Amino acid sequence: MDGPSGTGKSTVSRRLAGACAAAYLDTGAMYRALTLAVLRAGLDGADPAAERIALGAVPNLQSVVDPDAPRILLSGEDVEAEIRGPAVTAAVSAVSAVPAVRAALVARQRTIVADAVVDGGIVVEGRDIGSVVVPDAPLKVYLTASEHVRAARRGAQDRKAGRTGDIAVVLADVRRRDRLDSTRRTSPLQVASDAVVLDTDELSVDDVLAELLRLVRERGLVT
Ligand code: DC
Repeated sequence: MDGPSGTGKSTVSRRLAGACAAAYLDTGAMYRALTLAVLRAGLDGADPAAERIALGAVPNLQSVVDPDAPRILLSGEDVEAEIRGPAVTAAVSAVSAVPAVRAALVARQRTIVADAVVDGGIVVEGRDIGSVVVPDAPLKVYLTASEHVRAARRGAQDRKAGRTGDIAVVLADVRRRDRLDSTRRTSPLQVASDAVVLDTDELSVDDVLAELLRLVRERGLVT
């Protein structure tokens, strides 16, 4: 499952995994947790020393792939709440643009996928899953939505989590991250040539989930 933020990717990916008794991996959380390590070291994402700190933190990451309670641990600490905050959100595009950081996380992600495939399958969400991480995935979906709809959804999510969620601020951040994520040199956000593209502007979460389940069954991935 690829696509920009605010398309409902996380919600539908988790629900799809739950419905298929599969694991669920949020690769954005991995980039966010490394960004948190960089910020905790007193650096900002663009600092030349950020790469060393981020790479040093990779072995300390642990992704819990249970779709009912997905979370990420950094040196054993559950950092799920902290990685969703504004400081990490502002710095994560810079950290995720570093080629060595991407290479290290892609390797980790492939290991997690290989283990989960043996155990009954996995739904993986991110930006480069169909294009880079799992190019032979049996189903690739690219979720999209207009930037205003995405900003409104992100704002609602922020308010639910107790953050301001001001629409103008969220819209500016959505645009900034779209630009950075789509123009970086290594694995920019892109639609894999064999992905099914779903525009979610007019679709509820239930509508999207129904379409995904239809696709999963059509491909014979669950019975
Ligand atoms: O999905 P998210 O907003 O939690 O992702 C956080 C950031 O990480 C996002 O700005 C892009 C980056 N990311 C990436 O480059 N590749 C991925 N597979 C997942 C996320």
